[in-house]
Amino acid sequence: MLISFVAAMAKNRAMGKKGDLPWNVPTDMNRFRTITRGHPVVMGSKTFESLPGGKPLPNRANIVLSRHTDKKYEGATVFTELGQALRFAATQPGGEEVMVIGGGQIFAQALPLAQRVYLTILDADIADADTFFPEIDEMRWAATEEGRFEMSDQDEYGGTFLTYNRTGHSPIVEPANGRNEEYKAQLERILESGICPFCQNGETLKEQLILRSNQSWWIKENAHPLAHTLYHFVITPNRHIESVDDITSAEWEDLKEMRAWVKQNYPANGDAMYVRSGEPLVTGATVTHLHYHMIVPAGLVDVKFGSFNG
Ligand SMILES: NC(=O)c1ccc[n+]([C@@H]2O[C@H](COP(=O)([O-])OP(=O)(O)OC[C@H]3O[C@@H](n4cnc5c(N)ncnc54)[C@H](OP(=O)(O)O)[C@@H]3O)[C@@H](O)[C@H]2O)c1
Ligand SMILES: [Zn+2]
Repeated sequence: MLISFVAAMAKNRAMGKKGDLPWNVPTDMNRFRTITRGHPVVMGSKTFESLPGGKPLPNRANIVLSRHTDKKYEGATVFTELGQALRFAATQPGGEEVMVIGGGQIFAQALPLAQRVYLTILDADIADADTFFPEIDEMRWAATEEGRFEMSDQDEYGGTFLTYNRTGHSPIVEPANGRNEEYKAQLERILESGICPFCQNGETLKEQLILRSNQSWWIKENAHPLAHTLYHFVITPNRHIESVDDITSAEWEDLKEMRAWVKQNYPANGDAMYVRSGEPLVTGATVTHLHYHMIVPAGLVDVKFGSFNG
């Protein structure tokens, strides 16, 4: 399932006003129809209620998000949870590309999951808008296609068509995922320094007590171990990688070797390992540089692996 956004915004990112579009641009509506036709569309209840004639979009599965479990819309399927709505959309005709079509609330929440954004930027500045399109972080996205359209007789504005694709690049740390204010502030400082905290020239690395390293990995005790653990280690690759898919077979062998060393020196009847791979706003990671957590819980415990966003 590819998750795509389709949106139009003014130069000041305005998208909506008093439950409606702040413009009339049929040329952009045509583009919207062409892009979404034959694909499921996912939207918030306010956007559904703003559709022309109060009717669902034809020839597309209409999927609506509402927190009200009893809401029913003719011609649409209602979900109370974003993940459920997207998974259902993937099962519908054309579900290989799911179109998230707004509004502001849904775009803001679904942005970390989106892989593509079809965006129209209109030559407009809407001063009194109440709904805005979220910022697109240039670190994570690349505009791959661009074309201008001049306004036709019916259009209030001309504009530019863009398609953004996620490049896979992400900041070296994600302060939003810090567990507390102190940690968030520390992550902000690292972000400003521009130096990955796990890379060899990183400043933080020197402060850390490295227990051992081999050809591909180094291991240390977690500075902030999870509660109720006998041991909590962090095992980090020597080179900067952000995805499990980038681990080479030689590195897998070295990871096995590192595990064997831990088990020999910290004998236990079992352990749990977890890793976050990819977009930190999706995985909840604070440091983008890949790292495994290896823990040995102490006693009968309720081990929490940290919170997920959203
Ligand atoms: N320019 C564009 O491309 C574009 C596209 C779409 C919409 N718009 C405009 O944007 C405005 C509407 O946007 P909006 O941000 O106000 O509303 P919206 O995102 O369309 O809908 C918000 C509603 O969605 C439901 N919702 C939000 N988060 C949810 C979650 N996590 N789980 C379940 N339900 C959730 C809630 O419904 P309940 O209140 O029912 O619980 C909430 O009130 C309108 O002015 C519209 O014309 C513009
Ligand atoms: Zn790094």
